[in-house]
Amino acid sequence: MRIARRLEAISPSATMGMKVKADELRAQGKDVLSFAVGEPDFPTPANIVAAAKRAMDEGQTKYTAASGLPELKQAICEATRRDLGLDYTPAQVVASNGAKHSLFNIAQTLVQPGDEVIVLSPYWVTYPDQIAFCEGRPVIIETRDEDDFQPDLAQIRAAVTDYTVAIILNSPCNPSGAVYERDVMEGIAEIAIEHDLTIISDEIYKHILFDGRTHLSPAQLGDEVRARTLIVDGVAKSYSMPGWRIGWVLGPEPVVKAMGGLQGQMTSNPNTIAQWATVEALTGPQESVAEMNRQFERRRDFVVEQMAQIDGVTCATPRGAFYAFPNVSAHYDRLVPDAPAGARSDALAMKLLSENLISLVAGSSFGDDDYIRLSFAAGMEQLEEGLRRFTAAFA
Ligand SMILES: Cc1ncc(COP(=O)(O)O)c(C=O)c1O
Repeated sequence: MRIARRLEAISPSATMGMKVKADELRAQGKDVLSFAVGEPDFPTPANIVAAAKRAMDEGQTKYTAASGLPELKQAICEATRRDLGLDYTPAQVVASNGAKHSLFNIAQTLVQPGDEVIVLSPYWVTYPDQIAFCEGRPVIIETRDEDDFQPDLAQIRAAVTDYTVAIILNSPCNPSGAVYERDVMEGIAEIAIEHDLTIISDEIYKHILFDGRTHLSPAQLGDEVRARTLIVDGVAKSYSMPGWRIGWVLGPEPVVKAMGGLQGQMTSNPNTIAQWATVEALTGPQESVAEMNRQFERRRDFVVEQMAQIDGVTCATPRGAFYAFPNVSAHYDRLVPDAPAGARSDALAMKLLSENLISLVAGSSFGDDDYIRLSFAAGMEQLEEGLRRFTAAFA
């Protein structure tokens, strides 16, 4: 069978080879510890699970409007008012099967062949592929650990061309843990206004913030910025609901309506039971969000402290999300001397898995081969043993 050419834009999953190897080692009885996953290790809070059960018992098992239940859209608007102080109407919301689906809807709705979208590296793996799938061109701008992964405004400005239609922001950032400073966010907003760009703001980690930080969305920077911003959010991370698959977009009504139409022919509504569970997540008690955040912060402190003791490894302190992204490149010549440029982090990740029985994700998957990503969405005991093995690998 012939496979359509557009599928060439989709790269094979970088973690797949690692997973096969990890399974093989486990089958041999080896105790492999995984720090590769991008999901919280906590169970979904009980009140949310109870709401899903209630929905099923009450027969909420049919289709809903393709873009989501009115009750869910209302709950998203209320939560956005509470968390960001911004007023949106239900007509400005489209709920989807996770934030990844929301981002795909955005790419399909905004990007035409030849359009350019600015992506800041290290980036979440999915962004460039989704843009390329729509025959757009991701334009990558690098950020570095020595700058705390804050983007350089002059570089962004220089990257804008007549073809640029949007810029994707992800603060707090997966994988770097960066949280963009207000002046950086304001600078990006200014560039977006000047060049008529859409800001796609992936805020899925907005509740996972450390050192007393509060979240800043570009949409909070005034009406002019908000009118060109699409906020992407979801319940996967903050409410520990990755498997429930609910995400959403908030933005100007015509774009949201177009995305709803697309979704109507693509997936119809996101899972009805999960939509009701999300209503409870957003409008019910919020203590579990704060509690999970406290645990992530304790783990962050531990990981950063351990990394600081490893010679030749530098790790910018994650300000949010649940990943550490250490620069391990000083060890490449010694540990993976034969690995080809651009795939040295892959070789190191494979070595750490085979020899030290820890699974991490190579930085190359996020656009920067000097780094490796360690998820601290894992229990303290597992982290202690994992960091012991990580440290031993570089000794
Ligand atoms: C930056 C970022 N955006 C979006 C998502 C996708 O979230 P969802 O599970 O709601 O599709 C993830 C998940 O790893 C992520 O890290």
